[in-house]
Amino acid sequence: MIWSRAVLIGGIINISVIGSGYVGLVAGVCFAELGHNVILVDNDRAKYSVLARGECPIHEQHLPKLLARHRGKRLSFSSSLHDAVLASEVVFIAVGTPPANNGEADLSYVESVAREIAGAINSYKVVVDKSTVPVYTSDWVRHVMVLNGAQPDMFDVASNPEFLREGTAVTDFLYPDRIVIGAHSLPTSNLLRDIYRPLCDGSYYQGLSAIPVPQGAKLTPPLIATDTKSAEVIKYAYNAFLAMKISFINAVATICESVGANVDHVRDGIGTDTRIGKRFLYPGIGYGGSCFPKDLSAYRAVAQECGYDFRLLEEVMRINDDQRQRFLHKVRRALWTLKGKRVGVLGLAFKGGTDDVRESPALAIIESLVDEGCEIQAYDPAAGERAREILGTKGVRYVDSAYAAVESADALLVLTEWEEFKSVDLARVRELLRYPIVIDGRNLFDPETMREHGFMYLSVGRPDVPLKEEKVRRQRRRTRHAVRQAEEARPGSRLANITAEL
Ligand code: UGA
Repeated sequence: MIWSRAVLIGGIINISVIGSGYVGLVAGVCFAELGHNVILVDNDRAKYSVLARGECPIHEQHLPKLLARHRGKRLSFSSSLHDAVLASEVVFIAVGTPPANNGEADLSYVESVAREIAGAINSYKVVVDKSTVPVYTSDWVRHVMVLNGAQPDMFDVASNPEFLREGTAVTDFLYPDRIVIGAHSLPTSNLLRDIYRPLCDGSYYQGLSAIPVPQGAKLTPPLIATDTKSAEVIKYAYNAFLAMKISFINAVATICESVGANVDHVRDGIGTDTRIGKRFLYPGIGYGGSCFPKDLSAYRAVAQECGYDFRLLEEVMRINDDQRQRFLHKVRRALWTLKGKRVGVLGLAFKGGTDDVRESPALAIIESLVDEGCEIQAYDPAAGERAREILGTKGVRYVDSAYAAVESADALLVLTEWEEFKSVDLARVRELLRYPIVIDGRNLFDPETMREHGFMYLSVGRPDVPLKEEKVRRQRRRTRHAVRQAEEARPGSRLANITAEL
């Protein structure tokens, strides 16, 4: 094993990260933040030029600031994997592992990167899987590299799964609950330890420019050193467990709806037990995103290959799919027929705080409503553009505020848990909506407050707030009066149409 002494001086390590998607970009930028020299590699010319221009291609808190801090200093970009590998001791593979048709993870990008790395090795390297991959991937990477000419004693393969959430990826990286390193040998494990040393010994947190500590964060995270297969299992088991928590509470919410119980109280009742915990027990329209749906299918496929029928995972996925259908059923229950109805939508992203719409339950629900003849007015603080690329404009109008989304709509649907939505002016929403109907797929609002504002309010796992017919009549009288006054003040204005409608 040949260690380049120069790279280890002062604890600074030369790293390349292959793939600058969510994981690669955040990891690369954060490695630079920890003091290492990083080359981010991407063969997607468009993405490469966005980064090279100094722009941030994703909506991620703190990322633009860190990119600006390190670009051209410790952080550089390259489209040449070969050159980057030559200049590095540690090469992280962070390319995509999309789902194949049979539910397995498609590892062809990982394989082709492994081939290319093999062709570029000129001195000892540690190659690290950071992409979420099935068990045995590190063995396969090693095998492919040897087949493609890499000397077996000139490299080692390790696994270092990531646990980043979109939207909080930077703080998740810099203030992790733990770091997991899977390696075959102590020197490899120690090299990876060195990369994370500023976090594990707490020196990063003492720096004046450190990204501020998020609430409840652990300082000096534990580092779990294990073998590569255990590290690979950790990542899949972890995502499967989190998804199971969500499907569990969604199933409980369904029971609550049938018996008239309140899932918020049930969550408090069970979540206060520290063995269970309240986090990640929020019911809704189901999980989405680029991780859970793909990773659960892949984990199930891995289990099947190992001869184990992991039916629990199948049920987790089934409950998740059912949540969308159950929500659509609520919309029909509130609006009766859907053809020709105008529906205001808050939220397009798969969750709040991100512009990512991959596997977003919001898009699936909108597609069904458009198929049934609804006209959608949708607002999302960040994901409008990305949603438009997928949904197009047939039946969907993308607007730039929550109030524009609800204007003259027959009902409002809440589909993403953005913090911003919690502070909308409910009285104004009530005035702008054609009918005071809100169907909340994320339980963002308090049912009592919605009742006070005169809404019919349906949420997930909590008792419905029915329509107060008297309040509706009063509101419509008030609206008619206001319209008449406005009409007198501005003859010929757009309000003339509303008067006709009333
Ligand atoms: C998830 C994990 O939380 C990360 O730790 C992991 O590293 C990442 O996958 C990955 O494998 O790369 P992410 O997909 O960014 O992160 O999003 P989450 O915050 O986990 O949310 C996933 C989905 O579950 C969202 O649609 C969200 O709305 C939904 N969710 C979450 C609920 O419906 N209820 C909850 O209580 C929590």
